[in-house]
Amino acid sequence: MNHVDLADSADMAEAIAKILPAIQEFYRFEGPDLAVRRSADWKKHLTTPLPQQGKGLDSVLNDLIQTVIPNGLRNGHPGFAGWVTTSPTSSGTVAHLAASVAGSQRYWIQAFNYLEALGLDWLKELLDLPPAWQATFTSGGSSANLIGLGAARQWAFEQIGVDPSMTGIPDGVRFHIYASVEVHHVVNRAAAVLGIGRRNVVGIPTDRDHRIDLSALEDRLQQDAAEGIRPMAIVATAGTVNVGAIDPINEMADLAVKYGSWLHVDGAYGLFGKLDQRVAHLYEGLNRADSAAVDPHKWLAAPLGNGVAFVRDKNILGRAFTLEPAAYLEGSESQNGILQSPFDEFGEKYFDFNLDQSAPSRGVAVWAILKEIGAQGMADRVVRHNSFARLLADIVRNHPKLDLVTEPVLSICCFRFNDGIHSGKELNGINAEIAARLRAEGQFVPSTTVVKGIYAIRPCYINPRTREEDVTGLAKRVAELGTELGTELGKEQT
Ligand SMILES: Cc1ncc(COP(=O)(O)O)c(C=O)c1O
Repeated sequence: MNHVDLADSADMAEAIAKILPAIQEFYRFEGPDLAVRRSADWKKHLTTPLPQQGKGLDSVLNDLIQTVIPNGLRNGHPGFAGWVTTSPTSSGTVAHLAASVAGSQRYWIQAFNYLEALGLDWLKELLDLPPAWQATFTSGGSSANLIGLGAARQWAFEQIGVDPSMTGIPDGVRFHIYASVEVHHVVNRAAAVLGIGRRNVVGIPTDRDHRIDLSALEDRLQQDAAEGIRPMAIVATAGTVNVGAIDPINEMADLAVKYGSWLHVDGAYGLFGKLDQRVAHLYEGLNRADSAAVDPHKWLAAPLGNGVAFVRDKNILGRAFTLEPAAYLEGSESQNGILQSPFDEFGEKYFDFNLDQSAPSRGVAVWAILKEIGAQGMADRVVRHNSFARLLADIVRNHPKLDLVTEPVLSICCFRFNDGIHSGKELNGINAEIAARLRAEGQFVPSTTVVKGIYAIRPCYINPRTREEDVTGLAKRVAELGTELGTELGKEQT
């Protein structure tokens, strides 16, 4: 019998060193992005039958260096401003790598585990959230919202004498979740997973600033109360994914109190926006929320897989997500419905507040980035990015062939090409083609959205590498491409 495993770790440092030049090269973002155009080639190279005999470490490294890394996603390119995503900076990446080697299992007294708690404390301090709120790292905004709403469900059913985590949801009780029609669709999915149902997320219309219409919300709360439908949660979005609007959190907190509802704030994208004093007042009432979500893997540019849920009441969160006593957790018992064990002294009790039992260390990346740039560095980033969106809006306003579609609140600016010649439908087509050509060119890569029927180019600035010339360059290129396309369309029509 062979007692040596082919998967060795003796030469790990050497293996990591071998791929570093390919990573460095990728992060230069030079030349056109060929990943899509070359996809037939790299797919063919990678598509092999499961090897019966291992090919060895060098074979893996060669594939990574030559085929995988060069064809990765360039969302860290300075001109990339699509969706709400970017790629990580150095300190977070190095911390992530270190954690995958030395910090993966957190149920122990160990430094990574300690940084999990410290990272959460630093985030609360940075965002000026109550220190007593329980926080927990998650894999991203989807699960952070699920956890916040899971706590909401626990609270709401306990109000009627039911423990949903123990007994499930009883028949005949109706609960609604209220959110603006601009809410991110992960909230609808959370409702599905929690057994509430997507249809029980009530989409409330928005005002002209794309914020939830408070009187429509109150009307619906009243109407539902009259029909015996209870509010499980009101969800405020702090930074909507389409346009970056911030719902009136304070007034929504008033309604939550008045109608007896939990208030959850989805700040996956926009909670860090609070660091910009120009818009900080829009977050008034945040500390009245019962739960909130934020994504370090967005504006903080932590490696992907890094979200956070905050919940005011640790015990409600614990009753919703706790594990149960088990023989392998020597000395464990349940106290007030929450697992207690001698291991609790070992660090952050993420396993009681979360969907994971085993999980990668995420706090270390947050700690590393905040240690590197400081609270001031993060505030500077947010201000710079919000200013980019305002700069773009100014350029657009003063350009004869560009239209501003939404006034920036945070770092999103929605605009479009409009030469004043083509109809609305034609303009939607022209702008869609502009976006497609921008993606193909790879120099300026925003994403797009539709705002009240208008197809808009939608850059979202969260990428630490973006420079002012990437913002001005985008406006210029959109106007150039639109003019070319408008002329082409004119010729086709004559
Ligand atoms: C407002 C908002 N909520 C939730 C999410 C989902 O986050 P994730 O993609 O990390 O799951 C996003 C993603 O862009 C978002 O913008």
